Amino acid sequence: MAERLQKLISQAGLASRRQAEKWIEEGKVLLNGNVATLGERADLAVDQVHVNGQLLPGAQKRVAVLLNKPRGYVSTLSDPEGRRLVTDLVTDVPQRLFPVGRLDFNTEGLLLLTNDGDLAQCVSHPSHHVNKTYLVKVRGQLNRKIIYQLEHGVTLDDGKTAPAKVEGVRSADSNCWFELTIHEGKNRQVRRMCDYVGLSVVRLKRVRLGFLDLDNVATGCYRYLTKDEISKLKK
Ligand code: URA
Repeated sequence: MAERLQKLISQAGLASRRQAEKWIEEGKVLLNGNVATLGERADLAVDQVHVNGQLLPGAQKRVAVLLNKPRGYVSTLSDPEGRRLVTDLVTDVPQRLFPVGRLDFNTEGLLLLTNDGDLAQCVSHPSHHVNKTYLVKVRGQLNRKIIYQLEHGVTLDDGKTAPAKVEGVRSADSNCWFELTIHEGKNRQVRRMCDYVGLSVVRLKRVRLGFLDLDNVATGCYRYLTKDEISKLKK
């Protein structure tokens, strides 16, 4: 429930209501990143209130959801072209979530969204080496040379890719499916790796992220991560 900011600040034990009003007038209180004005209200389940640079204690519960992203959605919080956003799919979560990393507009599969900056950092920072496995469908066939190149690194314009793993190769007519596991997060990395070795990607789906998979999460649906899953990802 939304309450006046000075009430929330005093309830948090930071100051009296009068002092809190003074801070608001002095521009020391931010509501969702903007300088608050006296009379504004906030709901700590959804809003972020900073007082003298500190996030108000007892603010937003930290949550994370695992979404099975369909094609045709952007993984940003807004889109100048007015395309559909992944956050449009996460209804019924009161917190404001942001995507952890990105999947391209036409890439499907496992995407985490959270309001927990520490979790996002643990999952996406390259130094944490979280494996990401993609199911890739390409036009054409893999051969030993291509598999060697993908696994030992190819040189993209932003550097050589780290060792990767190719598994589960299956051919079907003029196409081929395989799983590619990488732990880096270069922009459009899988598509660019495939381009480099002369394969054109027809379909791309992230099927695993670390120990997480898409079991029981249908396309376009999501589930909350459990407390255990969140602590495991933060280790
Ligand atoms: N690699 C890509 O090329 N695209 C994605 O969306 C994710 C990884």
